[in-house]
Amino acid sequence: MDKASIYITRKIPKTLLSNYEEHFTFRMWEKEDESVPRDVLLEEAKTVDGLLTVLSDQVDEALLSQAVNLKVVANLAVGYNNIDLSAAKKHNVLVTNTPDVLSETTADLGFALLMATARRIIEANEFIKNGEWKDWAPYLLAGADIHHKTIGIVGMGRIGEAIAKRATGFNMNIRYHNRSRKEDAEKNLGAVYSSFDDLLKESDFIVSVVPLTKETENMFNKDAFQKMKSSAIFINISRGDVVEESALFEALKENKIRGAGLDVFREEPIHSDNPLIGLKNVVCLPHIGSASDDTRTAMIRLCLDNIKGVIGGMGAKTPVG
Ligand code: DGY
Repeated sequence: MDKASIYITRKIPKTLLSNYEEHFTFRMWEKEDESVPRDVLLEEAKTVDGLLTVLSDQVDEALLSQAVNLKVVANLAVGYNNIDLSAAKKHNVLVTNTPDVLSETTADLGFALLMATARRIIEANEFIKNGEWKDWAPYLLAGADIHHKTIGIVGMGRIGEAIAKRATGFNMNIRYHNRSRKEDAEKNLGAVYSSFDDLLKESDFIVSVVPLTKETENMFNKDAFQKMKSSAIFINISRGDVVEESALFEALKENKIRGAGLDVFREEPIHSDNPLIGLKNVVCLPHIGSASDDTRTAMIRLCLDNIKGVIGGMGAKTPVG
């Protein structure tokens, strides 16, 4: 019997494929730092049984309607807003994602970003490297405290809970907003459910961990930033489209809020002329929430296991939809 064929849209270590080569033939986009061009992806998708995709690949009706052999799309991310789930269903293609394996790592990054923004770590580093440290002063690079402050987590999924767990170590008051109440987090972490408005008004740190959906798109808009304290710090580790970037820019520029730590943007890679980059009170990262060696390897393995499960008829470990 012919082996099933899989196309991988980004360069991943070939050693991770060896356990699966008995079942599959793999082709891969080999350029490390460059996305697969759309026409190449469309062409590859026409013949393969499985795709391993990343969040910048659009898996839509145009792709799926031509992908006559395609059975599974394994997305290397917990988010899957790059995939049209109803089109996938229509074409009998199963979609999988990578929950759980990345929660702790993404929460680590979220907390690191919160701390870096509050305590102006990047600015301080640049200050020294630019040779600007001439003397000591009482308020030199003074930042905001984290301990005993209120953190408002918007989206209390697995990553949200892992952030809340870290916040307990800093004696923070934890507020959360979510579609449904999380009784375990309330009981075990002391997290208090809040309406979105109350969370915005009461939190010193507002952390966005919501998936991108029709309901969450642009939820951090002018109105939301106006409700925040002028000392508030906004952290986004979910998706750029949950934020109206022009409203965030205005809020930061006019000191309506104190700062922002952003791992995600509406357009990625972020354009060098994006005004947010020029602000001193913004820390920007290139969407590296789950980017640790171990976690990326675990995510790739989970994608490959899902592909093997679906094509082998055993089912996926982590299907979505
Ligand atoms: C995810 O998994 O959705 C992340 O954003 C990718 O790092």
